[in-house]
Amino acid sequence: MKRPRVIINCAMSADGKIASPTRKQMHISCDEDIERMYRLRNECDAVLVGVGTILTDNPKLTVKEKYVKHPKQPLRVVLDSEGRTPSHALVLNDVSKTLIIIAKGKKKTYNGSHIEVVSCKTDRTGLIDVKSALDFLYRKGVRTLLVEGGGTIIWNFLKNKVVDDLFIFIKPCIIGGKETPTVAEGEGIKSEEDGIPLKIVQVKRLGIGLLIHYQST
Ligand SMILES: NC(=O)c1ccc[n+]([C@@H]2O[C@H](COP(=O)([O-])OP(=O)(O)OC[C@H]3O[C@@H](n4cnc5c(N)ncnc54)[C@H](OP(=O)(O)O)[C@@H]3O)[C@@H](O)[C@H]2O)c1
Repeated sequence: MKRPRVIINCAMSADGKIASPTRKQMHISCDEDIERMYRLRNECDAVLVGVGTILTDNPKLTVKEKYVKHPKQPLRVVLDSEGRTPSHALVLNDVSKTLIIIAKGKKKTYNGSHIEVVSCKTDRTGLIDVKSALDFLYRKGVRTLLVEGGGTIIWNFLKNKVVDDLFIFIKPCIIGGKETPTVAEGEGIKSEEDGIPLKIVQVKRLGIGLLIHYQST
């Protein structure tokens, strides 16, 4: 199967949390990392999140001119089986094109020629089948895809073994909390041998934190 190059980018605390204990968005980053993230976003053909991130963070998923002059604004993609993305979501603004991927058999419409809704087959758990979505994106011309979360999406991409690069920015702080979202959620591995191996490509200090670049082995 031909698929886009998949790059995951996220920011976590030293204890692996990616949001507050109430799942609210937090500044788990720093100026230098934010600038790197916008540049990376601008280099990719598309940026993808799950509907969970849309509902909690309401991101625009665009590239700010403050960080990149004349941004090319990648296609924004939301995996959203039930079509729960509200029509007032900022990801639907007309700064860039948006693709909402819903489950086969579901119906959803939005106003605006920059918004496309497509249906895709689901996996055995009822979520959008990751490999089918990647196949669709590749056929649409997407060659590099930046996956920005949240934890459920990141887990599913890693589980499906379709991740090429993983960038994790670590902020030197502790958030704590048993229910606090982490980098990879979902059901997790069943036994030790199922651990998803990664290799470290680079570790560097960035602003107040550390940036680790991993690749799949
Ligand atoms: N620090 C960071 O870098 C960062 C970045 C982004 C988000 N976050 C945080 O992450 C949290 C949100 O994460 P989340 O896990 O709740 O939501 P999520 O991963 O953004 O979205 C998960 C939802 O997407 C839908 N989905 C459809 N197909 C899927 C598939 N193949 N795999 C996975 N999900 C699929 C499902 O909802 P349906 O069943 O309705 O389709 C699923 O519940 C928030 O607290 C946010 O602040 C942190």
